[in-house]
Amino acid sequence: MTAFKTIDQADVNGKRVLVRADLNVPVKDGRVTDATRIERLAPTIKDLAARNAKVVVLSHFDRPKGKRVPEMSLKAIQPALAKAIGTDVVFADDCIGPEAAKVVNALQPGQVALLENLRYHNGEEANDAGFVKSLAVLGDIYVNDAFSAAHRAHASTEGLAHVLPAYAGRQMQAELEALTAALEHPKKPVMAIVGGSKISTKLDVLNNLVAKVQVLVIGGGMANTFLNAQGVNIGKSLCERDLADTARAILETAKKHGCEIFLPTDAVVADGLKEGVATETCAISAVPADKMILDVGPATIAALKKKLDSCKTLLWNGPLGAFEIKPFEVATFAIAHHVAALTQAGGLISVAGGGDTVASLNAAGVADTLTYVSTAGGAFLEWMEGKELPGVAALSAT
Ligand code: 3PG
Repeated sequence: MTAFKTIDQADVNGKRVLVRADLNVPVKDGRVTDATRIERLAPTIKDLAARNAKVVVLSHFDRPKGKRVPEMSLKAIQPALAKAIGTDVVFADDCIGPEAAKVVNALQPGQVALLENLRYHNGEEANDAGFVKSLAVLGDIYVNDAFSAAHRAHASTEGLAHVLPAYAGRQMQAELEALTAALEHPKKPVMAIVGGSKISTKLDVLNNLVAKVQVLVIGGGMANTFLNAQGVNIGKSLCERDLADTARAILETAKKHGCEIFLPTDAVVADGLKEGVATETCAISAVPADKMILDVGPATIAALKKKLDSCKTLLWNGPLGAFEIKPFEVATFAIAHHVAALTQAGGLISVAGGGDTVASLNAAGVADTLTYVSTAGGAFLEWMEGKELPGVAALSAT
């Protein structure tokens, strides 16, 4: 990662500051159901407002595809944003043009405005130069605080950084520092835990990680594809049988790089994925033909804990079992608690990300005790794939 400027280096006094936020948060019946992204954004806005900036918040919400879709209006987020920053937020019915200009021009130093969904205009996703200009006339300074949208080369995530003085917001800075500490300049040995149901969605992640980490733990349904590729009978477990060659190739690459692949040695199996279903624990070599693997077993948990004790850095994406349905949360929660304890004791740098992972850490009650938990989904995955994120690259280039 190359250097980027942070808001500490910006003179914002009396200036109009365009803050690219990610207010793409879950909403049900018009109410925000998880405000984590908004709470993480608040320090940047509060800091800028306290330094007498006129803060103009830009964001997308959902995917309206260039049309005004009323259910995708950012108006629904205005109260949650105001609550998180503890001050009024003025709303503009459009993100460019006279509506936006009227609201921005009326802002006093220290005040905050939220502009309507950027994706109501096709120019946003097209990174259209004219649209970038229409946004740029509303500000003197650009701050990107939306790591979770940085994998998109859109007008507000990439284009603006080239036409206005550009800075990373507090959340962006924290995210980049945490990710750099985990993968670019980590304390070794580094363990990555990658779980989830399918390897097909994480091939690039696996291929990148085997070249960078010392131990790669494969959990969830993905492990079955690897076990099957090694000739293990996995009963009627979820498995991508057509990817056996791919899984074997990943194992080969790992060997070349000296990366240890950690697969389950025992499993919790059942007839199917149903709450309260009868379960059995068996060795991985003894999975009954009519059963499904739904979690890793106690021997695997114990071995994984021991392995974690000897690691200095952990990168975690994806649960170990079908944690949403009881009792298949056991392994994910046990490891989450162990990771939390090691982190709290100062022995482990732990970074986790991805929707399911964050949900499982929240359910285990330990999300606040890891070193860093990313709220990014797609951006976190692309970063784990080793890709350069356009929103981050544009900040580094300024
Ligand atoms: C996200 O929620 O991951 C970001 O807001 C990006 O949203 P997108 O996938 O619609 O670009």
